[in-house]
Amino acid sequence: MVSLKTVFATLAAAIGANAAAGSLQQVTGSFGTNPNNVGFYYYKPANLPAKPALIVAIHYCTGSAQAYFSGTQYANLADTNKYIVIYPDSPRSGKCFDVHSPQTLSHNGGGDSQGIASMVAYAISTWGVDAGRVFVTGSSSGAMMTNVMAGSYPNLFQAASAYSGVPFACFAGSGEWNSSCANGQTSKTGPQWGDLVRAAYPGYSGPRPRMMLWHGTADTTLYYANLQQEILEWTNVLGVSSTPTTTTQNDPQSSYTHTAYGCVVQAYSGAGVGHTVPVHESIDLQWFGITAGGPSCVGGTTTTTTNGVTTTTNGVTTTTPTTSQTTTTTTTTSGGATAPHWGQCGGQGWTGPTVCAAPYTCQYSNAWYSQCL
Ligand SMILES: *[C@@H]1O[C@H](CO)[C@@H](O)[C@H](O)[C@H]1NC(C)=O
Repeated sequence: MVSLKTVFATLAAAIGANAAAGSLQQVTGSFGTNPNNVGFYYYKPANLPAKPALIVAIHYCTGSAQAYFSGTQYANLADTNKYIVIYPDSPRSGKCFDVHSPQTLSHNGGGDSQGIASMVAYAISTWGVDAGRVFVTGSSSGAMMTNVMAGSYPNLFQAASAYSGVPFACFAGSGEWNSSCANGQTSKTGPQWGDLVRAAYPGYSGPRPRMMLWHGTADTTLYYANLQQEILEWTNVLGVSSTPTTTTQNDPQSSYTHTAYGCVVQAYSGAGVGHTVPVHESIDLQWFGITAGGPSCVGGTTTTTTNGVTTTTNGVTTTTPTTSQTTTTTTTTSGGATAPHWGQCGGQGWTGPTVCAAPYTCQYSNAWYSQCL
């Protein structure tokens, strides 16, 4: 068991300070179903327009609403860009969020996720938030919770950005900590992950949030392998190939690699970066469409599905599977050759086989190397 206090204490120190014009507020009365009593804090800048956007920003273990409010730039950027920020506050002494219970991992099933969903509903009905511009982000435990919110409440959010998290349901069935998942030893296929997300809200066929994922290769708290598992999960859920459509070095800064999966999943790997990936608030705002710009992406994917629903996002046609994945990619391999156990099967510049000899599967290690394991 990792000492959460030791591990996460450094996060607070490493995240920069904000200088918002106003202060953090709290909703103390009842605001909807909130079985675990997650704290409801928010920042509402002056002179909001009608129908402002909303960002839910979720803190790390040992953190708090106040710490994430003062340690990130979402609030002072809200002063200029005129949106509301909600900062949920963990009700537990260790200040982690519940990312493991069956309740939190299901739509309207209870748990921390339902408390946060109730905050969003309150913001829409009480403050006039634009229900079509609601976003979620967080660091570490908050990033895991970002994955949970995207899975359990896909109807509420248009986009998400998760800093150093794990896939939705990776902690399922455990207590507050799951070493196998945290250490990057839990691996599933895209369809398996996707089925876990779809099971959270059976019968839901509406749009789901676009997903941006950040992770450091030197993360020893929630290991880097979790990034690829998140990519497998959300590319499956959003119906795009898990093979990047573009790979850009030194984006958005030196030693980061940006991979795009159509226009709906974006991943940033920080080479040598540990668990504390600096929050890139201005990129999040672009990804959320609050400010102009945003990651360039190429939508034309080679993914086809046979039993899905076809939708168009950002001018890109994507197909969302309704049941277990039936994705076929048209990636060409070298004459049908397969790579052996332990052999390389992918990576930037790799021209050899991308399919592994049975029963091995091609597992992503980093942008330059995938291996048959
Ligand atoms: C960790 O989570 C996985 C699901 O990803 C679950 O199968 C496993 O039982 C959990 N481990 C513990 C020790 O609870």
